[in-house]
Amino acid sequence: MSVTDFEIVTTTTGAVSIRNKVVNEIMHNPVGPWQEANDLYIRQSRLAERLTPAPTGNATVAPKAPLVLFDVGLGAASNALAAIHCAKGLYGERAKAPSKPLHIVSFENNLSLLEFALKNSRAFDHMTGMESALESLLSTLHWQSPCGMITWDLRPGDFTKIIKTEAASPDIIFFDPYSPSVNREMWSLECFETLFRAMPRLTNPDAEPTTLFTYSVATPVRVAMLMAGFYVGFGQATGLKHETTVASNSIHGLAAPIDTRWWQRWHRSHTQMPYDAEKHSRENLINRLKSHPQYC
Ligand SMILES: C[S@@+](CC[C@H](N)C(=O)[O-])C[C@H]1O[C@@H](n2cnc3c(N)ncnc32)[C@H](O)[C@@H]1O
Repeated sequence: MSVTDFEIVTTTTGAVSIRNKVVNEIMHNPVGPWQEANDLYIRQSRLAERLTPAPTGNATVAPKAPLVLFDVGLGAASNALAAIHCAKGLYGERAKAPSKPLHIVSFENNLSLLEFALKNSRAFDHMTGMESALESLLSTLHWQSPCGMITWDLRPGDFTKIIKTEAASPDIIFFDPYSPSVNREMWSLECFETLFRAMPRLTNPDAEPTTLFTYSVATPVRVAMLMAGFYVGFGQATGLKHETTVASNSIHGLAAPIDTRWWQRWHRSHTQMPYDAEKHSRENLINRLKSHPQYC
């Protein structure tokens, strides 16, 4: 794909967005990139709250360990920029409790979408003032905010392979590839298994779980997440999506775990299995599901 494969469009709600002409997908349709980034990813993940944890002991000492955010499918960087705007707002408020640094790790196998967005940055208010950060990310794979509290690393290449050797361990995951109809490998059981292995093991019951947010509500996606070991829940609506999906390494990471009605629909579904189910025996997959604590 190249920069000529994208165009700026205005959605039915009047938001400015980008259409990928090759896969014929308007990103963040119809609410636009900024609203979707904030509704689906920033607010649901309670990013602001997680960057300002309740003080323990000496409240004047800022926590040193950063909050690690995996931004899967950097694309035009709307989600990552929304996270940066959120963090900058907190770090700028001196009256707030000491905040954690933010470390964003973005994954992308085709940087032409970011290059296109950067060329057209005037179309997107949220890009104003961030052009040099994006240029730095593209040329050096790294950017650090002037205050030193935000670091941003780019991992170019195929996420399904790179994640196997990724050193950072995520606290929050924004999972935003193209839709399963055109980007199936990213929604496969194999991909979610590898991602699950990259998440921290929860040994301390007080530790905050790692939680993933995504827009797909497809049954093969949710079932792949369950088979990979995630706990799965309903996410909030955004735009035309009456629901989204949240997945976590702990049931405590979910505000609304999938319920018996979802399982009843699954039992009746014609798409009960992950997209790459042919790599496994059906019996093995069903057994995995039956041994999941959420199964009913
Ligand atoms: C819907 S766009 C992401 C939009 C983006 N999150 C934003 O905020 O603007 C999906 C992105 O996922 C990327 N992608 C798809 N498959 C990938 C893979 N295997 N590894 C890394 N990135 C991938 C695409 O190249 C594309 O840029």
